[in-house]
Amino acid sequence: MENFRKRVLVTGGAGFLGSHLCERLIADGHGVLCLDNFFTGTKENIAHLLHNPHFELIRHDVTFPINVEVDEIYNLACPASPIHYQFDPVQTTKTSVHGAINLLDLARRLKAPIFQASTSEVYGDPKIHPQTEEYWGNVNPIGPRSCYDEGKRCAETLFFDYWNQYQVSIKVARIFNTYGPRMHPNDGRVVSNFIVQALNHHDITIYNLPSRHHIKWTRKISKD
Ligand SMILES: NC(=O)c1ccc[n+]([C@@H]2O[C@H](COP(=O)([O-])OP(=O)(O)OC[C@H]3O[C@@H](n4cnc5c(N)ncnc54)[C@H](O)[C@@H]3O)[C@@H](O)[C@H]2O)c1
Repeated sequence: MENFRKRVLVTGGAGFLGSHLCERLIADGHGVLCLDNFFTGTKENIAHLLHNPHFELIRHDVTFPINVEVDEIYNLACPASPIHYQFDPVQTTKTSVHGAINLLDLARRLKAPIFQASTSEVYGDPKIHPQTEEYWGNVNPIGPRSCYDEGKRCAETLFFDYWNQYQVSIKVARIFNTYGPRMHPNDGRVVSNFIVQALNHHDITIYNLPSRHHIKWTRKISKD
């Protein structure tokens, strides 16, 4: 970041990761325009920022075009846990794909750099571990996770095509499982499950990779 106050649009800014990003940008001396439809995000996540003169909040759905004047864009809008993104799979795909188009069009008009929060899920059920960026993945296009995995893959395609075709300045980060304050405790993801089970003194569920025979199974171990 250069040494002057930028106006930064953070979509999904009321979510787990987005709220920390808003905080960090303000601490770095920038102005934040936080955009969210509050599907999974909450006002509590950003309550401490609401009275900051360098913070603004817009309730908006990224599947609809948006026209604002900013210097940079961070696109984090998308439900991230299976229970949330499978609640309305069509809306999930739209959020990734229409959202990417709307925000890339905005970045193109403004000549603003844009960041995309992608995911390790673009590798699907990977056949190599750990995954390298060169790996193309092993993804089911019609399964229950496809709305998220394929939506995020298509968003990556759009980001790279806007870069190639229109020279929009892009950054795409494939985020792996993240944990910390403000994560959703009951979102069904591995790390939150571990933490919640441990805090409640319950047995911890160990999720296994599919075996060579593609048998999926879950084993519970005692906390003792
Ligand atoms: N948390 C992780 O471990 C992880 C891992 C990989 C990728 N990511 C990506 O990072 C981003 C943030 O994830 P998170 O864990 O903070 O999830 P989150 O659910 O806490 O945050 C997502 C935010 O996007 C908002 N949102 C959803 N659909 C929207 C729409 N159509 N228009 C406007 N806002 C919308 C939600 O209300 C929420 O505030 C997501 O794009 C996710 O795919 C997260």
